Amino acid sequence: MDNPWLELPLQDYESHMSQPAVGQAQLLSSLFGQSIDRFQPRSVALVGCAGGNGIEQTASRPIERLVALDINAAYLAVVSDRWKAALGGLETVCADLGTKMPALKPVDLAFAGLILEYVPLERALANLADLVHPSGVLVTVVQLPGAGHQKVSPSPYTSLQSLATVMNFVERSALLDTAARVGLEPIHEACHVASGGKEFLEFSFQKATSPNPPGHHAC
Ligand SMILES: C[S@@+](CC[C@H](N)C(=O)[O-])C[C@H]1O[C@@H](n2cnc3c(N)ncnc32)[C@H](O)[C@@H]1O
Repeated sequence: MDNPWLELPLQDYESHMSQPAVGQAQLLSSLFGQSIDRFQPRSVALVGCAGGNGIEQTASRPIERLVALDINAAYLAVVSDRWKAALGGLETVCADLGTKMPALKPVDLAFAGLILEYVPLERALANLADLVHPSGVLVTVVQLPGAGHQKVSPSPYTSLQSLATVMNFVERSALLDTAARVGLEPIHEACHVASGGKEFLEFSFQKATSPNPPGHHAC
């Protein structure tokens, strides 16, 4: 099946996410900034970066290397146009988080905001665990199902509705169980509400202290 993320115009996506009735761009950017302040990384990865929402948070913070990863090469070209001159340490990586990814130099902090809904969970978390330095942190943000809220909020940008067919809610228990299987343990949890009213679950994970966590296997 074709991936609608490869067809969705970035302008539609960004306009949808930033309108006050949605407000998710602002929330994700803010959570990325808070994660940087909490964990003080020198290298970060923004996974499922779209047009680079949140990169502005790094401008005033001492980030030396920023990896922007997405499946859509056109989105990454925009990220590069917007930020390459200002951020010497910017690396764009076009990769599919849902398949075994090529090895990347690990980062201190990987931030995966609203991407786990679109990928096979265990493969994606295994890739993210590989992307994080042994003493680093992975932050995930997923949308919680809520009464009265659709998977994709109604908006004038009708192209966004194509995502509803491939978006799957990530249950808290599934996230924690799967993270444990790939060797990640939670160190922080929080719930957030965007201005549009939808709720989001944020987890921070570190590599499990046991060298061989139960059930951990390489795919
Ligand atoms: C809902 S958006 C993420 C939101 C973004 N972090 C923000 O702040 O606006 C999902 C992003 O993940 C990307 N994506 C979807 N499936 C992917 C995959 N299998 N591998 C890598 N990126 C993927 C999409 O192209 C899109 O940019």
